[in-house]
Amino acid sequence: MSNGFETLAIHAGQEPDPVTGAVVPPIYATSTYKQDGVGGLRGGYEYSRSANPTRTALEEALAAVEGGVRGMAFASGLAAEDTLLRTVCKPNDHVVIPNDAYGGTYRLFSKVHERWGLHYDPVPLGDLDAVAAAMTQKTKLIWVETPTNPLLGIADIAALAQLAHENDALLVVDNTFASPYLQQPLALGADVVVHSTTKYVGGHSDVVGGALIAADKGLGDELAYHQNAMGGVAGPFDAWLTLRGLKTLGVRMDRHCDNAERVVDLLLAHPRVTQVLYPGLDEHPGHEAAAKQMKRFGGMVSFRVDGGEQEAVDICNRTKLFTLGESLGGVESLIEHPGRMTHASAAGSPLEVPADLVRLSVGIETVDDLLADLTQALG
Ligand SMILES: Cc1ncc(COP(=O)(O)O)c(C=O)c1O
Repeated sequence: MSNGFETLAIHAGQEPDPVTGAVVPPIYATSTYKQDGVGGLRGGYEYSRSANPTRTALEEALAAVEGGVRGMAFASGLAAEDTLLRTVCKPNDHVVIPNDAYGGTYRLFSKVHERWGLHYDPVPLGDLDAVAAAMTQKTKLIWVETPTNPLLGIADIAALAQLAHENDALLVVDNTFASPYLQQPLALGADVVVHSTTKYVGGHSDVVGGALIAADKGLGDELAYHQNAMGGVAGPFDAWLTLRGLKTLGVRMDRHCDNAERVVDLLLAHPRVTQVLYPGLDEHPGHEAAAKQMKRFGGMVSFRVDGGEQEAVDICNRTKLFTLGESLGGVESLIEHPGRMTHASAAGSPLEVPADLVRLSVGIETVDDLLADLTQALG
């Protein structure tokens, strides 16, 4: 019998503790484990960088909800990304990246990995011909973010997986914005899913973390080897908090989507708003692909305003319930100016974002309160 998403989120990797019956996996705050004679490990545990039972519970749950064979939990999303890149790429290799992505991901390619000889090309991933044209003999992977941060662009995961595989490359999908509840990239042909679990998976803005989930055992084992060799693991307290968040991901995502849809309606009707970026809209260029591969369209909404950069900044400063802050995916609503905040590191690059752009992470508060706050802030 196969279990549904919410059942997996609550039970996978989380059997009641065999000794006490505790229904929640304990926080194993230990660095090392007693061995029963040299090499006599209990359950494979020897040292907590290599494995820790709280982290194992999270890793098994993440693998289950993404439909992968192996999950790995990291100290942050970027630690997960770095481990992945250094596992599958070497100097002189090439990767195709989105021309719209989280600024920190772009910085990892442009300021860190490029110095070590990893070449990259930013490409609009909605344009399959452009992606095909950018592929070279040395292309090791296509890096996909969908929806993208902060422009909510959509890439067709199944089509890109086919293109990657025809060229002996891997398809990596950063599934942070959609979460596994709304989108399952491995089932669409992706090889690896990346998460900043800091966002919807954790869901409460109280922990930073990252994850990799592999579709295939060989690649999963290689990634796990590097996770231990490089050491960017999630600690047991962080793993516990992230696992607690994961249990309610399904119900939270549905409310995020309900509220976001109402916010989109308000923005569409507002005279100061010049464009609303949301993949649920028929006029969104990626709507068809999004409708094919996502259950709903998520809790992130971006919009542009007349009055340019200053007006966008002023709106961010005027909200009272939408908290001005970076990050996203928590229960509370956040507002930010990507150009000056999350994506400041992309200024002057092909990934620079429009100055009149505002990004909302729509939370799960009472929706009428959110609408009233936006109405007063838009003026
Ligand atoms: C889409 C996306 N991927 C990756 C990251 C990086 O994750 P972390 O901040 O947990 O290192 C972020 C952070 O905002 C993100 O939005």
